[in-house]
Amino acid sequence: MGYKVAVVGATGNVGREMLNILAERAFPVDEIAALASRRSLGTEVSFGDRTLKTRDLDAFDFAGWDIALFAIGSDATKTYAPKAARAGCVVIDNSSLYRYDPDVPLVVPEVNAEAVEGYAKKNIIANPNCSTAQMVVALKPLHDRARIKRVVVSTYQSVSGAGKEGMDELWDQTKAIYNPTDEIAPKKFQKQIAFNVIPHIDVFMEDGSTKEEWKMVAETKKIVDSSIKVTATCVRVPVFVGHAEAINLEFEDHLDEDEARDILREAPSIMVVDKREDGGYVTPIECVGDFATFVSRIRQDSTIDNGLNLWVVSDNLRKGAALNAVQIAEVLGQRCLKKG
Ligand SMILES: NC(=O)c1ccc[n+]([C@@H]2O[C@H](COP(=O)([O-])OP(=O)(O)OC[C@H]3O[C@@H](n4cnc5c(N)ncnc54)[C@H](OP(=O)(O)O)[C@@H]3O)[C@@H](O)[C@H]2O)c1
Repeated sequence: MGYKVAVVGATGNVGREMLNILAERAFPVDEIAALASRRSLGTEVSFGDRTLKTRDLDAFDFAGWDIALFAIGSDATKTYAPKAARAGCVVIDNSSLYRYDPDVPLVVPEVNAEAVEGYAKKNIIANPNCSTAQMVVALKPLHDRARIKRVVVSTYQSVSGAGKEGMDELWDQTKAIYNPTDEIAPKKFQKQIAFNVIPHIDVFMEDGSTKEEWKMVAETKKIVDSSIKVTATCVRVPVFVGHAEAINLEFEDHLDEDEARDILREAPSIMVVDKREDGGYVTPIECVGDFATFVSRIRQDSTIDNGLNLWVVSDNLRKGAALNAVQIAEVLGQRCLKKG
């Protein structure tokens, strides 16, 4: 006995990865539906060794379906997620729409799997922002040992975090650099992204930070501990897939870099690659297609009493979105929607 699972946004970057990961992890699926907008009706997507034809979300009836993995923008989610939830289908949502709703659990299974049990208030569970997800996986085991007081993080976020249009823009602009007659003006990003970096993701807030930065603050508090102070600078870089983060941590208690390395080696879903030699660390290209969150460059920050620096890298379409959503579905199945 398996589940009836709908993947909503199945033609997008995250939706396609959701289908891959459901198949790779052999999630118990009895029936699967690939849904997208009417524009994509009949578009073929892969699910393991099967090919699925995409169906129209607007005409889909969620009654009798167990789980819907949503990967569409917030506006469309606002229309369709309540429809699915009312029909009795549990929504696991990747947009930011429900993340800060007190009646919706925001879950990273390595950190707060038990929060899934709060799903029934709205029949919705939220998946965090890609940058938050990979960061909190690394933070949690260190916080349990030495209590994190403050996090200073700078991100290096790939263009796939802005959807398939973001990837196309980097590709087209890069080609245009070598063929100047094809000049490609910025559309998805605010400035040229090819051969450049842009310190601006999502809209500006009143205090001068961006919404992406605010999300890292609010989500870390909701998932890990409301007492942790976070300050973030989020930067888009010309990398197709894989987000990197330079993280500075200040703890209440002393934590030695060797002990931190040992703790992270034992922690779930983390791979430590930390040799103090040429190439002894992980870069975004190397983490593409992987399930793990990689931690490198673990070192003491001698400018404060209890400080550490880390370099954290992960596949943003996986741990940052699709993998985390499928892991939530696994926890939901084990704890709440048992079958068989
Ligand atoms: N990329 C990341 O790293 C990441 C991380 C965390 C969260 N997210 C979130 O996940 C969501 C999807 O992101 P993405 O990167 O996969 O975007 P994407 O590549 O642009 O794909 C968007 C998907 O949504 C579908 N869609 C859009 N409007 C729709 C509508 N009105 N009705 C039905 N389907 C609609 C598209 O279908 P068509 O092809 O038919 O247009 C497509 O399948 C977003 O909310 C994003 O913020 C993304």
